[in-house]
Amino acid sequence: METLKKMEIYLDYNSTTPLDPLVLKAMQPYLSQHFGNPSSFHRAGQVARHAVEEAREKIADVLQVEPGDIIFTSGGTESDNLAVKGVLEERGEKRRSLVISSIEHQAVLHPALNLEKKGYTIKVVPVNKNGLVDVQKLKEIITEDTALVSLMHVNNETGVIQPIEEAAKLAHDKGALFHTDAVQSFGKLVMRPETVGADLVSLSAHKICGPKGAGALYIRKGVKIKSLTQGGHQEKNIRPGTENVSAIVGFGEAAALAEKLRAEEAVRVKKLRDKLEQGIEKSISGVTVNGDAKKRIYNTLNVSFDALDGETLLMNLDLKNIFVSTGSACTAGSVEPSHVLLAMGISEVLARAAIRFTLGRFTSDKEIDLTLAELPMVVQRLRQASTGKKK
Ligand SMILES: Cc1ncc(COP(=O)(O)O)c(C=O)c1O
Repeated sequence: METLKKMEIYLDYNSTTPLDPLVLKAMQPYLSQHFGNPSSFHRAGQVARHAVEEAREKIADVLQVEPGDIIFTSGGTESDNLAVKGVLEERGEKRRSLVISSIEHQAVLHPALNLEKKGYTIKVVPVNKNGLVDVQKLKEIITEDTALVSLMHVNNETGVIQPIEEAAKLAHDKGALFHTDAVQSFGKLVMRPETVGADLVSLSAHKICGPKGAGALYIRKGVKIKSLTQGGHQEKNIRPGTENVSAIVGFGEAAALAEKLRAEEAVRVKKLRDKLEQGIEKSISGVTVNGDAKKRIYNTLNVSFDALDGETLLMNLDLKNIFVSTGSACTAGSVEPSHVLLAMGISEVLARAAIRFTLGRFTSDKEIDLTLAELPMVVQRLRQASTGKKK
């Protein structure tokens, strides 16, 4: 890809994406001459205000919602926190429980743990071995005490697409609200909150070739949430603070661009992902693809390699200029296997042997060919080294 040094192959689009040059171009004036504060009444401020509102319209357009229902935040993490804590703290008098899935991102899991410490009840719905939420179990754990059900649309590690419409209906049947973290699906899959029945939707700019530090929360009209910060009147008092104008402009541009390219990119990227998947299965023995084969987003491939450590493989691929990720988390100095893979019932050994390849807008056919040329050799060498060590 152009933005990295020659021959560097970036296959980690679910972590973050390169800024599209068109997005950078749209942002630049707001980092220089149009520096006004959107809350100022003079012309410099109004130029910035206009840009922020235009970006809001672009994002609302993709979701097919009212621009006034979009609140800008600093990213997916803040949006998730705002949704989960904001609803529980607003409705907490009457309804004190939160339902989440076992495969949510830390941006939902950790606020949930924080709420639990404050005395709220957290119920966790399991997933099956393919990484899909168990809808029957979900039905059983939502009660009249549930304030919010939060289920992500697409899992960041496996790419598995969750049954959010069914979940929303189950939540509403019991008078609960429904939130979905759509950080990994926005701009890739069609997702209309009104069709799904989502009351709140989290988005992030940097997963769609937009800038880091910009995100949004869709809040359906009439849904009340408590603000987590106090300050000025920006973003309907829900998210006070002077807006990050250039990043918001970039987010709007990135959203419009992703929507424009969505259909053709889905076909192009899927072809490359499938080629990578089939190539790996053909040339390397002892591999398992993690996550439902059908209900999986087109850019993601999560594979466990028998008798290998994912971290070691990642580092050896890095030496070959191929950038991938593992779902492992570094906690208290030790590397923990992915909570998502463990929740699917995958053994700790295979979870530690997993690598995630995620493709995107600038991934080329040549990059996939180069990866398929290098990967089998790296895997073979590491496997030989580890069996040699055991002898
Ligand atoms: C599913 C999901 N939710 C939330 C986030 C957090 O988004 P951000 O990095 O914009 O805070 C991520 C990013 O990795 C994600 O993949």
